[in-house]
Amino acid sequence: MADIKDIDPQNIPRHVAIIMDGNGRWARKKALNRIRGHEEGARSVKEIVTTSREIGISYLTLYAFSEENWGRPRTEIQALMRLLKRYLKQELSEMLDNGIRLNTIGFINKLPNDVRKTLSDVMDKTSRNSDMVLTLALSYGGRQELTDAVKRIAKRVESGDLKAEEITEDIISGFLHTYDMPDPDLLIRTSGEFRISNFLLWQIAYTEIYITPTLWPDFRKSEFLDAILEYQKRERRFGLTGEQVKGVQK
Ligand code: FPP
Repeated sequence: MADIKDIDPQNIPRHVAIIMDGNGRWARKKALNRIRGHEEGARSVKEIVTTSREIGISYLTLYAFSEENWGRPRTEIQALMRLLKRYLKQELSEMLDNGIRLNTIGFINKLPNDVRKTLSDVMDKTSRNSDMVLTLALSYGGRQELTDAVKRIAKRVESGDLKAEEITEDIISGFLHTYDMPDPDLLIRTSGEFRISNFLLWQIAYTEIYITPTLWPDFRKSEFLDAILEYQKRERRFGLTGEQVKGVQK
């Protein structure tokens, strides 16, 4: 089990993104209602946010509700929205004390009014914080984000503001919901599924991926530190050779 002392402070991933999966299975294993799994999952959120801030991660992005999740039973959606609101209200002072700025990505206008209001209140109150950005992906889908970006870029081309030949990777990145953050260095998925599930499709081109069988409600500080330690052992090559990355040209 990893300890904070094992972590190299010189090699902390700047941006960690997490697919929090397995709340339902956690509850089923304990013969509990799925909602109990989400409640326990919210406790993991709290612990992972605190640990991220403690080790100096600058951007933490959590996949809290996907575009596809709208297809879940109404009672589960309502419970997730309630939990989200409760989390935001309870954690505001913690965010203010720890220099955490709340941010969102996704199609936020689809969320219920009361949730949007709480989100915008916490975002306003934390807007001057700069030690860590906590981004909640809500009503988020990577394909929908890209489709939306293509439409907006096409409009610019139509209006003559932009030429098709001028479209670059940076321009595309600038039209995504993540326009103001770096790409993730590390993507963690809990509960052992080897899938991306429509999360940050464009942004994870060179991201290191860590998959653990641990279910999200059981994913706490030491498991998270294990993931960071594993990341620190990886050699990131970005398509180059190992020798080039080490600065030894052959
Ligand atoms: C995946 O588990 C989890 C979700 C769809 C929602 C994530 C929500 C939380 C962690 C709690 C509230 C969030 C915040 C930000 C406070 P699943 O239901 O798909 O699990 P299963 O695959 O085992 O059924």
